[in-house]
Amino acid sequence: MSRKILVLSGSNLNLLGTREPEIYGSDTLDTIHARLSAHFESREVELRFFQSNSEGDLMDAIHEARSWADGIVINPGAYSHYSYAVRDAISGVGLPAVEIHLSNIHKREAFRHTLVVAPACVGSVLGFGWRSYLWGVEALLSYLSDMK
Ligand code: DQA
Repeated sequence: MSRKILVLSGSNLNLLGTREPEIYGSDTLDTIHARLSAHFESREVELRFFQSNSEGDLMDAIHEARSWADGIVINPGAYSHYSYAVRDAISGVGLPAVEIHLSNIHKREAFRHTLVVAPACVGSVLGFGWRSYLWGVEALLSYLSDMK
């Protein structure tokens, strides 16, 4: 069955490649997107990518996904820790979402241990660098296949 998935990245993730590479790796977001597209090309999975530093733009993308997507993979960036607006957008559209993080936030500063978007998601993948995106999509596909 063909699937359509929105892969959403939030604040500061446009800086990947040069942003704290010891934490986030040296791949750019475009490189990660290209790897995902190549990986899922032969599996009838359509991925659409969007990054924004603006909370409102992320919310709009989530709202628009209602009209075309089967689910959402989201790395909200720092919004993960305090954006009730992004959380409510995910709950509001009713699409299954998987939250991902490149880094293992549980090993980092205490403020990163608060997660307000994650409870609106079906599950999370974190700590595997760019592969968190890959496995986030795999996890969502697996979840969707159980839902039929
Ligand atoms: C991040 C973790 C967040 O705490 C941080 O604010 C980010 C990136 C990650 O992918 O590891 O911007 O979401």
